[in-house]
Amino acid sequence: MKKILLSGVKPTGKAHIGNYFGAMRQFADRQDEYRQFIFIANYHALTSVSDGALLQKLTLDLAMDYLAIGIDSKKTTLFLQSDVPEVTELAWVFNTLTTVPYLSRAHAFKDAEAKNKEVNVGLFDYPILMAADILIYSADVVPVGLDQKQHIEIARDTAQKFNRVFGDTFKIPEPMILENVKTVPGTDGRKMSKSYGNTIPLFGTNEEIKKAVMSIPTDSKGVEDPKDPKECKVFAMHELFPGDELEALRARYLAGGIGYKESKDLLVAKIINFITPMRTRREEIAQNPEAVLKILKEGGEVARAEAQKKVQEVREKVGLI
Ligand code: ADP
Ligand code: TRP
Repeated sequence: MKKILLSGVKPTGKAHIGNYFGAMRQFADRQDEYRQFIFIANYHALTSVSDGALLQKLTLDLAMDYLAIGIDSKKTTLFLQSDVPEVTELAWVFNTLTTVPYLSRAHAFKDAEAKNKEVNVGLFDYPILMAADILIYSADVVPVGLDQKQHIEIARDTAQKFNRVFGDTFKIPEPMILENVKTVPGTDGRKMSKSYGNTIPLFGTNEEIKKAVMSIPTDSKGVEDPKDPKECKVFAMHELFPGDELEALRARYLAGGIGYKESKDLLVAKIINFITPMRTRREEIAQNPEAVLKILKEGGEVARAEAQKKVQEVREKVGLI
């Protein structure tokens, strides 16, 4: 029996290369090895998107992105989170086992509070809905970027708590975080994120990619000066493409003789070269949105059948019948 891999992305903006190298790439690379569930976290997106037409558009866009990066609907169950409403029921049961101080320690909530944002209850409860997403399908592994690690820990704690109170029911999931990637930096050096406006869009035009790369700040060293690759935000992005070329570039940085302009031009060329085939595929997929919706619908039916079995077991254990 294959192990189960599950992950999701929120449809809250254009997918960027941080999403791809940090998480999404693994969804395409692992589908022969695992039984895969990949979804679009549209319930989660509601915590930050309050425009129905926009959410629909972003949802379809993300479905096309998933297919364009190579997710094969014959191998992977690809679906919408909201086609499995049982996750919200399970999240409710988990809510009743979770304390307010425990959730108050979650990074996302603490960050929002620190910025004096008005935190909606959905955002506060976000990790519990995510725990339900993961546990309802008995996932073994959850590929995510480093920023999601705490959420996987919350899912593990929640599974353990339920199992302790009601008897063995949930598998304890493991995070799958790429050691060499962890956090892809954005064009301003902070984590690349849809919410910071510092992204390189995964399916951007050549011009968009160029503009984003050219905006990366660098220091005032001249062409001939030796440069520390560890200090350079442009080099940090080159590191997404490991290999001989990267090592040669590292040597040139250390020796001096390469300017930031040349390094940026090389990076633009690498990114464009890498994404062109996916971008072409995405254009083809976008010709036929009906086919994409059909894949989501069929995936939703498969996922829901799995989820219903688990929720039935939970209902019996907690006494809801
Ligand atoms: P964003 O922060 O841009 O809104 P999401 O929260 O939708 O991104 O993240 C989707 C997936 O991509 C998650 O698994 C997340 O950990 C991963 N991810 C997002 N940004 C990065 C990044 N800069 N580096 C590595 N992984 C990332
Ligand atoms: N919180 C994740 C993010 O921001 C999205 C997500 C929702 C998710 N449910 C999940 C990821 C379950 C992995 C597993 O990217």
